[in-house]
Amino acid sequence: MGLTERGRYHKNPATTEVLGTVPDLGVEETRVAIDAAGAAFKSWSKTTAKQRHDVLKKFYDLMLENTEDLSRIITLENGKTLAEAKSEHIYSASFLEWFAEEAVRVYGEVIPSPFPDIRNITIKQPVGVCSLLTPWNFPSAMITRKLAPALAAGCTVVIKPPAETPFSALALVELANRAGVPPGVINVVTTDKNVKEVGDELAQHKVVKKVSFTGSTNVAKLLMQRASSTLKKVSLEAGGNSPFIVFDDADIDKAVEGAIVSKFRASGQTCVCANRIYVQSSIYAEFASRLADKVDKFKIGNGLDEGVTHGPLIHERAIEKVQRHVEDACSKGAEILVGGKRATDLPGTFFQPTVLSNVSNDTQIMDEETFGPVAALIKFETENEVIDICNSSDVGLAGYFFSRDVGRVWKVAEALELGMIGVNTGLISQACIPFGGVKESGLGREGGPHGIDEYMETKFIAFGGLAGK
Ligand code: SIN
Repeated sequence: MGLTERGRYHKNPATTEVLGTVPDLGVEETRVAIDAAGAAFKSWSKTTAKQRHDVLKKFYDLMLENTEDLSRIITLENGKTLAEAKSEHIYSASFLEWFAEEAVRVYGEVIPSPFPDIRNITIKQPVGVCSLLTPWNFPSAMITRKLAPALAAGCTVVIKPPAETPFSALALVELANRAGVPPGVINVVTTDKNVKEVGDELAQHKVVKKVSFTGSTNVAKLLMQRASSTLKKVSLEAGGNSPFIVFDDADIDKAVEGAIVSKFRASGQTCVCANRIYVQSSIYAEFASRLADKVDKFKIGNGLDEGVTHGPLIHERAIEKVQRHVEDACSKGAEILVGGKRATDLPGTFFQPTVLSNVSNDTQIMDEETFGPVAALIKFETENEVIDICNSSDVGLAGYFFSRDVGRVWKVAEALELGMIGVNTGLISQACIPFGGVKESGLGREGGPHGIDEYMETKFIAFGGLAGK
């Protein structure tokens, strides 16, 4: 793809230092990328599953060999600590391993026919060119979660990485090339100013047969509208507003640990971060004070520095949203136990890790994802009450609860309107699970045994004229 003169600077959110530039591409270059993917599909879709397995496995090995460099790139462009970046990197690589192994396990079916002269079979085939639109909070893993099943299925792709974190995407593609992915199979369109036009083109272009997006519910709805013009397949992993419930029979230490992992992973900037923490009234005070003690010990700073536990938020808009949520909660009676403000003693976009107590149900935090390091605690009395409050949300991605009562565990897990549930754990993400939500949190599942199906069509073939054979 031809580069243009137009470039955009990218800054480290922890230091505000310029990291480098990437081309700010537009619709014209997007079409070039789609055409390249369309041309490459002809041969990539004809490779055998074993050939695709081998390339993906090599890509996985190269990722592990380059762990230090790729993790450092994640920290520099996203801000998360090096330890978190390494864990994202391993998570990212695990999608390549998982889908290398899935590539060779795509089976068709034989379906008994009611007619004596007919035999029915199905085969699975790649959908075609796929547009992959990914977010900045996992600059590497959200790409491989889409790219690995697409390649495994025999599809070719155009990736639009987020404007904030383009470098991990480009580094991944370099490794894919070294692993033997042929030219044209993976294409990347970096863009910033033209993000809307490029997104529209990727969702509408006739050659594109599938759109996979991770990001906000509003953008997911727009992309789905655009994709409907040619009835493309869509996978949408949209926003969440995850409830985290602590029942009175929970192991409180484990629940505090789970809340910290779930709420403060990536400084609160994941779609599955706990957003509303409901604690049963008889254990509320103890849970709140133990959580506040732990959060008070966090150290924010540059993710490359020793001893730093949490990095910055991605940009000023993120800080403004978190600030707005805290102010709104406090104006409606919430009390700040820890933090509560922007950290002004650091150069980047940092917000103090925060615990708010006695947050009421009519606050903005209860309605929309904070996407920042704010643990909002709400007291509840009964199981049915908390289930009803959790389910009143329009979205339903993930949720968590802590309880040692097996009857309650089944009842609550079945009742919550969510795509994914962590019981007695605050961390659910793995390559082998079906990741995705219900309601306005999206469509489709990524990863796990179901992930590759999103990139394949099932074709039915009837063999007739067989009577008497
Ligand atoms: C996300 O924030 O969208 C993904 C988080 C994860 O995979 O754990």
